[in-house]
Amino acid sequence: MAVLGITVALLVWVATLLLISIWKHIHSSWKLPPGPFPLPIIGNLLQLEPKNIPKSFTKLAERYGPVFTVYLGNRRIVVTHGYKAVREVLLQYKNEFSGRGDIAAFHAHKDRGIIFNNGPTWKDTRRFSLTTLRDYGMGKQGNEQRIQKEAHFLLEELRKTQGQPFDPTFLIGGGPCNVIADILFCKHFDYSDKTCLRLMNMFNENFYLLSTPWLQVYNYYSQYMKYLPGSHRRVMKNVSEIKQYALEQVKEHHASLDPNCPRNFTDCLLIEMEKEKQSSEPGYTLDDIAVTVADLFFAGTETTSTTLRYGLLILMKYPEIEEKLHEEIDRVIGPSRIPAVKDRLEMPYMDAVVHEIQRFINLVPSNLPHETTRDTMFRGYVIPKGTIVIPTLDSLLYDDQEFPDPETFKPEHFLNENGKFKYSDYFKAFSAGKRVCVGEGLARMELFLFLSAILQHFNLKSLVDPKDIDLTPTTVGFGSIPPYYKLCVIPRSR
Ligand code: HEM
Repeated sequence: MAVLGITVALLVWVATLLLISIWKHIHSSWKLPPGPFPLPIIGNLLQLEPKNIPKSFTKLAERYGPVFTVYLGNRRIVVTHGYKAVREVLLQYKNEFSGRGDIAAFHAHKDRGIIFNNGPTWKDTRRFSLTTLRDYGMGKQGNEQRIQKEAHFLLEELRKTQGQPFDPTFLIGGGPCNVIADILFCKHFDYSDKTCLRLMNMFNENFYLLSTPWLQVYNYYSQYMKYLPGSHRRVMKNVSEIKQYALEQVKEHHASLDPNCPRNFTDCLLIEMEKEKQSSEPGYTLDDIAVTVADLFFAGTETTSTTLRYGLLILMKYPEIEEKLHEEIDRVIGPSRIPAVKDRLEMPYMDAVVHEIQRFINLVPSNLPHETTRDTMFRGYVIPKGTIVIPTLDSLLYDDQEFPDPETFKPEHFLNENGKFKYSDYFKAFSAGKRVCVGEGLARMELFLFLSAILQHFNLKSLVDPKDIDLTPTTVGFGSIPPYYKLCVIPRSR
C-alpha cells in the first residue's frame, strides 16, 4: 500500500513538473522566434545531431527560417543563419548581442579575461588588450619582423626532417606559439622544449575535445553531467594547468617589473594593475591577468596553427594549386628574401588561397556563443536578456550564391576574372562587431607569411595519392578539426 502511495505521489510530482515546464515554455516564448517544440529537461536535443550541431542548425534554418529558437537543457538559444541575419546581430545590434554565452568547460575563466568574460570587466580588458597588442604589433620590432624572425626557425626545423615523414601538428604549431609567446612574455621556445610541447598538446587536445559530441552536450547539460567521469574533466584539467602556467609567468614578471620600462604585454597589464591600485576602483588581480594572458596564448596558438596544418593538407590534395603558388612566390619574392607583408599586394593568388583555406575549413562554424545584454526587439521578436545567441559563421562561408559550389576548394572564390583578389563581405571567419577576434590582424599576417615562407623553400609531398586525401574534418563542434596526417617536405631546387 505504502509503495503504491509513493509511486502515485511520484507520478503526480513528475506530471506537475512536466506541466509547469510546458506552461513556462509557452508563457515565456510567445514573442520568441519560431523553433521546434522542446521536451522538458532535454529540450531540443533530439532535433540536433551532437556529432555535428552546426549542420543541425543549417537543417533547422531550412525549416524555421534565418532566425529560430532551440532549447538545450534549461538554456534558450536563438540561432541566426545567413548573411543578413548574422550581419544584423553582429553589426547592427552590436551592443544588445555583445554578451558572451556560457561555455561550461571554461568556468575557470568565467567573467574574467576576454574570451569567456560576460561581466563588467570585459570591455576594459578587451580595449586595453587591443591597444597593447596594437602597440606591440607596430614599429621596428613589430609583428611583421616577429613573424619573419620566427619563419627562419620554422624553416630550420622543417629542414631537419630531411625529407622524412612527420606529423606537422607541433612542428608547424611552434611558429604561431612562439609569435604569441614573444608578444606576451618575450619568450622563444626551442621546438623540442618540453614545456612548449606540453602547452601545445593541451591547446590542441582541448580544441579537439571541445568539438566532440560529449563536450557539445556537456556544455548545455553540465548541471547533470558534471559529476560523471568523462573527457570534460580532461578539458577542465588542461584549462587549469594552462592558467597555472600563465599565473607563474605573471608572477615572475611582477617580481622583476620596472614600471617605466615594460618588456611585453604581461608587463603592460601589470603596470595597469599597479596604477589601478592607487585609485579607489577595484582593479585587476594577478589572477585576472593570468586569465587574459592564457586566453591570448591558446587563442593565438591553436587557431592559426590548425589553419596552417589544414591548409597544407589541402595543398597536397591539389598539387596544381601548390604549383601556381610556387610560380607566384618565385616571380614576386624570389628564392632567398624572406616574404614580407608588402608582397601580398602583388600576390593575389596566395591571398586568395589563404582566404579560401579559411573559408573552406570553416574553423569555428557556429562562432563563439553570444548573449543578449538586455531584452531586445529583433525582427519583430522579443529576445529576453540572458538568451544565448549564435550568429553562425558557416552560413556565410558556405553561402552558395556568394561562393558557388561551396563544398569545393576553389581559390577562384576570391579572384575576379582578371586574376585580381576579390573581396567578399561574406568572409567572416573572424566574426565581426564588438566581439570580433582580437587577433585577426596578427593571424592574417602569420598565415600569409608562414605559408609563403614554407612554399618558397619546400615542395609538399603526400604519403598517399593526392586523389585519396580526405579533407573531411574528424569532428565538428566548437571547431572543425582536420584529419590526422603526416607529410614530407622536400627542399626546392631552382
Ligand atoms: C585563424 C585564426 C583565428 C580565427 C579563425 C579566429 C576566430 C575567432 C572567432 C570566430 C572569435 C569569436 C568572435 C565572436 O565572438 O563574435 C574569436 C575571438 C577571439 N579571438 Fe580569435 N581567431 C583567430 C586567431 C586569433 C589570434 C591569433 C588571437 C590572439 C592574438 C585571437 C584572440 C581572440 C580573442 C581574445 C577572442 C575573444 C574576443 C572577445 O570575446 O571579445 N584569435 N576569434
